[in-house]
Amino acid sequence: MSDKSSSNAMWGGRFASGPDAIMEAINASIDFDKRMAGQDIEASRAHAAMLAKQGIITNSDAEAIREGLLTVLSEIESGTFKYSRALEDIHMNVESRLKEIIGEPAGRLHTGRSRNDQVANDFKMWVRDQFDAAISGIDVLTAALLGQAEAGADMVMPGFTHLQVAQPVTWGHHMLAYVEMFNRDKSRMIDARKRMNECVLGAAALAGTSFPLDRDMTAQALGFDRPSANSLDSVSDRDFALDFLSAASICATHLSRFAEELVIWSTVQFKFVTLSDRFSTGSSIMPQKKNPDAAELIRAKVARINGSLVGLLTVMKGLPLAYSKDMQEDKEQVFDAADSLMLALAAMAGMVADMTPNKPELEIAAATGFSTATDLADWLVRALNMPFRDAHHVTGALVKMAEDGGVDLPELTLEQMQSECAEITDAVFEVLGVHNSVASRVSYGGTAPENVRKQIARWRGEIG
Ligand code: ARG
Repeated sequence: MSDKSSSNAMWGGRFASGPDAIMEAINASIDFDKRMAGQDIEASRAHAAMLAKQGIITNSDAEAIREGLLTVLSEIESGTFKYSRALEDIHMNVESRLKEIIGEPAGRLHTGRSRNDQVANDFKMWVRDQFDAAISGIDVLTAALLGQAEAGADMVMPGFTHLQVAQPVTWGHHMLAYVEMFNRDKSRMIDARKRMNECVLGAAALAGTSFPLDRDMTAQALGFDRPSANSLDSVSDRDFALDFLSAASICATHLSRFAEELVIWSTVQFKFVTLSDRFSTGSSIMPQKKNPDAAELIRAKVARINGSLVGLLTVMKGLPLAYSKDMQEDKEQVFDAADSLMLALAAMAGMVADMTPNKPELEIAAATGFSTATDLADWLVRALNMPFRDAHHVTGALVKMAEDGGVDLPELTLEQMQSECAEITDAVFEVLGVHNSVASRVSYGGTAPENVRKQIARWRGEIG
């Protein structure tokens, strides 16, 4: 072989000169794809074992490769590995170092393989780990929410629509609303993980290979359910990353909504919750301030996750089969989104576990804004057999009367009530209390404390 030291050692055979510095800068991915070193080495070790078992390389070469790869891994883990931009990416950096360590057998590792199937497979394994991490992150957050729900199963608070007081609800019910949301996120991740769990190795550059690979063996060794069925699709599929980003975006959207509630709830105007010092910050000028920065940052993280989703969708649109280098732009977006999601989940779990609902304030707030007006209308229907539309009208008049008098509904006298509807009796006052109101909402999925307790038990059973 001729020595063309300036051209790439891995593919420079047909090249007379090396790349321009700008070409190297735009082409190299090592600065970021080194995050997949562990996956790359694990997959290469499985590929080498399979090549030997199929008699494509010798057992002793496979052993040298597999041992050498462990040495490379330990160098990477200990921080002594020297990454080279000239070697473009993690795949060629690892293989080149392997050659320095074990010599000639290293050159046999790439038999029946291309960087195209290699990168798709490494990236799949990396994304698969992120699904698992996000699922555990959701479990931790769910446990924190269930703790809050249990402590406040019958604590009342105002329920809002349009951010205007609507009807009293229980704190536990509000916490469980987020348990539902985050666990739908979890189930989206479980679905997507199942769908993506097919091994790409063996698809080679795009057309498969003439070597007698055992793709089932490689798939099994790497924890995949099966090998992927179409080589063209396999090397150019990034749906798994899009699935991750879309599930992450929805989950981050839920986190952002909750974060917004915590920001509002922790103001002096609301005083619904006290966030712990551990998840708040102070102001450098205003000594009294305690700011909900963690909640604000969680609220904002969704922006970059959504950005990554739209970014990768846009990279993929219009790409012809099979691999194009555009796809190298998949990783940074997914890396950033995954980091943001894990951090946001962990911060939310910590904040929720630590926060204290302000029971007296919640109770006062629950009773303001004529929040039991619907209970009054329902009582007129039930006790007096009034058509609901008429009941709605009478209740509206009573709300107006209370508002004009500067009092809440339960503070109206029976005489005042009877001036609007003579049949009203003393019994009406029972439904005007917020505790009775929430206790009466026993329809399946309703806010009653007994429902909340049943749902907590159901979730505890599911999560274990
Ligand atoms: N670094 C590349 C990527 O991330 C690896 C695949 C390169 N394949 C190729 N045929 N140039 O996409």
